[in-house]
Amino acid sequence: MPTTNILHISATPAKTAASFASFLLQLDSERQAPNAVALSGGSTPNLLFKHLRTAYQDQLRWDSLQLFWGDERCVPHNHEESNFGTARTLLLDHAPIQPAQLHPINCQGDPAAEATRYAQLMRDKLPAEAGVPVFQLVILGLGADGHTASIFPGSDLMQEQAQLTGVATHPESGQKRISITLPVINQAEQVVFLVTGASKAERVADILHKRPGYQQYPAAAVQPISGHCHWFLDEAAASQLKTEAA
Ligand code: 6PG
Repeated sequence: MPTTNILHISATPAKTAASFASFLLQLDSERQAPNAVALSGGSTPNLLFKHLRTAYQDQLRWDSLQLFWGDERCVPHNHEESNFGTARTLLLDHAPIQPAQLHPINCQGDPAAEATRYAQLMRDKLPAEAGVPVFQLVILGLGADGHTASIFPGSDLMQEQAQLTGVATHPESGQKRISITLPVINQAEQVVFLVTGASKAERVADILHKRPGYQQYPAAAVQPISGHCHWFLDEAAASQLKTEAA
């Protein structure tokens, strides 16, 4: 099924975060059941975390959330590069959410063993469709090289269609990471890319306009079974997109 990409373009990163936050609030209000959400890493979500902390303390049904991570760097959670550590510092330590609702990846030991543990955790905690755990929402970032989660161009994880998680190696730093795989991402009820900054503009346009060679980018393999994918972009990241009118 071709993917319908739904664009939400805002003037600034802060307004992009606010736009996504209200999307999240609407999703949350539409469901009575728990919302299992896989958070993305990197720096882009930081504005979202700060916005949720200040603007949505008492609006979001925090007790309905089960938070997972789409990927994690193999560093201690108190390391500045930890995706869980960043979310905890900027949001979770300031929100009415219980530790039992948080499901971080913790790959300080054997990454392969943690990948296996996390796959089983998703199986245990989430409903499944066609044997694949279903998130209500997966939030993704986009690297300038077209990676998403920790699925890097040319990596084995780009082809992974059976496992739910995998061990990745950052192509530049060599840092080990754990990532959920494309089958899990594509099974989610809602998949959202949150992308800001001019450095992403070319890759965003490569992927959304299916420019020659776009299929080399892991983010282009995000083709949700739901048939749609939301892109929350600031104008800088959307600056190479041709609007219909143009
Ligand atoms: C990670 C991410 C990764 C990130 C992109 C964008 O752990 O780094 O999950 O996929 O979303 O690299 O990162 P920035 O938001 O820092 O540009």
